[in-house]
Amino acid sequence: MKILVTGGCGFIGSHFIEYFLKTYPGAQVANVDLLTYAAHPDMPNYLESLAPERYSFLKRDISDPELKSWVKSGKFDAIVNFAAETHVDRSILDPDSFVRTNVMGVQNLLAVAREAGNIRLVHVSTDEVYGSLKPEDPPCLETNSLDPNSPYAASKASADLLALASGRTYQQPVLITRCTNNYGPYQFPEKLLPLLIANALENKPIPVYGDGKQVRDWIYVVDHCRGIDAVLQKGHPGEIYNISASGEARNIDVIKKVLDILGKPRSLITYVGDRPAHDRRYGLNSNKIQSELGWKPQFSFEEGLRSTVEWYIKNQEWWKKVRGSDYQKYYQANYENKFGSKNSKNREVNS
Ligand code: DAU
Repeated sequence: MKILVTGGCGFIGSHFIEYFLKTYPGAQVANVDLLTYAAHPDMPNYLESLAPERYSFLKRDISDPELKSWVKSGKFDAIVNFAAETHVDRSILDPDSFVRTNVMGVQNLLAVAREAGNIRLVHVSTDEVYGSLKPEDPPCLETNSLDPNSPYAASKASADLLALASGRTYQQPVLITRCTNNYGPYQFPEKLLPLLIANALENKPIPVYGDGKQVRDWIYVVDHCRGIDAVLQKGHPGEIYNISASGEARNIDVIKKVLDILGKPRSLITYVGDRPAHDRRYGLNSNKIQSELGWKPQFSFEEGLRSTVEWYIKNQEWWKKVRGSDYQKYYQANYENKFGSKNSKNREVNS
């Protein structure tokens, strides 16, 4: 199989390429990535080193109309799209870039896939499109309505709708996966888990938005990649597949767990102002992919978390490299002011 992966230098995309090259010794992978801030500078070389003869790379935006002829001549069997702006906080500060990449980029990619012979396109989406659950709600099914609350989630929901509409209008074999919060090695340290581990290792405060009782549904990134592969190989065009390891946990409990694994004090926990329109709870039902495609998560949260923490302990050079001056400038200029460093305070965690 020869596949095109878009956004393959990001966190989930790079894991997927590694998984795919290692699982299928005959497979070829081409990776199109714009190498934005979220791609670690070492990632292109790392992926190349995995299978130099079966891997190629093109630095390009998925919105680029010129991609059409390049993809057409590549004779790919399928495209898997990971390319996206993904950080909710950034989408609040700069929604335009999310519309450009996540909506216009996907619209272009749909046309690219059609012109390249109507090839199969797996579009990687998110549980955030369903919006926030109440404590008593059952986890979301694929049939739940879309109710996004952040510019990020709205851009992903828009792309999902465009993809579904293209499937119906042009008989395009488009499949959508919606996954929960991923964690694992190589995640950019602006997302909760890597930020928390890196800050704790450096004895820096851990910023907890609001009361910290928001619930996220956690999945180890490799389990997600296996789920995407199941959809790529066996999924039905036009269908949506939720991917979840049923790992719902409150942020504050996850934070305490990580501090305990690291042997760091709870006094690092620092409550800060809340993210605007912060979704209270995510949770997905993944019975469909389990029963129809035979996928199952392999990692428990405990197992995945421990190995992730170990990876960040062993690979401090990796995350320190991206927490350089640009990262610091971004945080100082945007986050602290917007999310209320003024009203941040350390307080005893008794919940
Ligand atoms: O649910 C899937 C989604 O998970 C993906 O589609 C997104 O791309 C990904 O960014 C993630 O979104 P979240 O907003 O849930 O992830 P984040 O790591 O930013 O935050 C997780 C929770 O932790 C959320 O309730 C906000 C909170 N948080 C986050 C950060 C960065 C904090 O309390 N403090 C923080 O410093």
